[in-house]
Amino acid sequence: MNVLVLHGPNLNLLGTREPHIYGTMTLEEINARLEEWAAAHGVTLRIIQSNHEGVLIDAIHQARGWADAILINPGALHIYGYALREALAAVNLPAVEVHLSNVHAREEWRRLSVIAPVCKGVIQGFGWRSYLLGLEALYALHQERAAQG
Ligand code: DQA
Repeated sequence: MNVLVLHGPNLNLLGTREPHIYGTMTLEEINARLEEWAAAHGVTLRIIQSNHEGVLIDAIHQARGWADAILINPGALHIYGYALREALAAVNLPAVEVHLSNVHAREEWRRLSVIAPVCKGVIQGFGWRSYLLGLEALYALHQERAAQG
């Protein structure tokens, strides 16, 4: 199984960015945990972080024919990233949206996700483990589909 992992704007600053909200793990540490889990389950990851919506969109387009699924933390793009949403809809791969924090427990303006409607589901509020739970969910769905033939 191949999974495209996307980290949106400002997630490169994890570790020092508002650690009381996002924790102290760096993006490299989170990616290492995901790689560890993936290796143990025969999953190949392509991991991309960008502060630019277009780079994330290009990565989604390029994942066609390679990726079986997409794991995405869109950062603040969940609030207004319509082009990102349409890229996910266009490639029609199973996707899971993840957030470190529980956006529903935060500011009112943060509660909207324009990404969620084109995803299988959303996992949020579990810190770096949101990513792992999202990856596990995509893997389980993939296994289930494979078993059904
Ligand atoms: C975030 C939540 C977003 O609202 C915020 O803009 C981020 C991080 C999270 O992982 O909790 O950049 O996606």
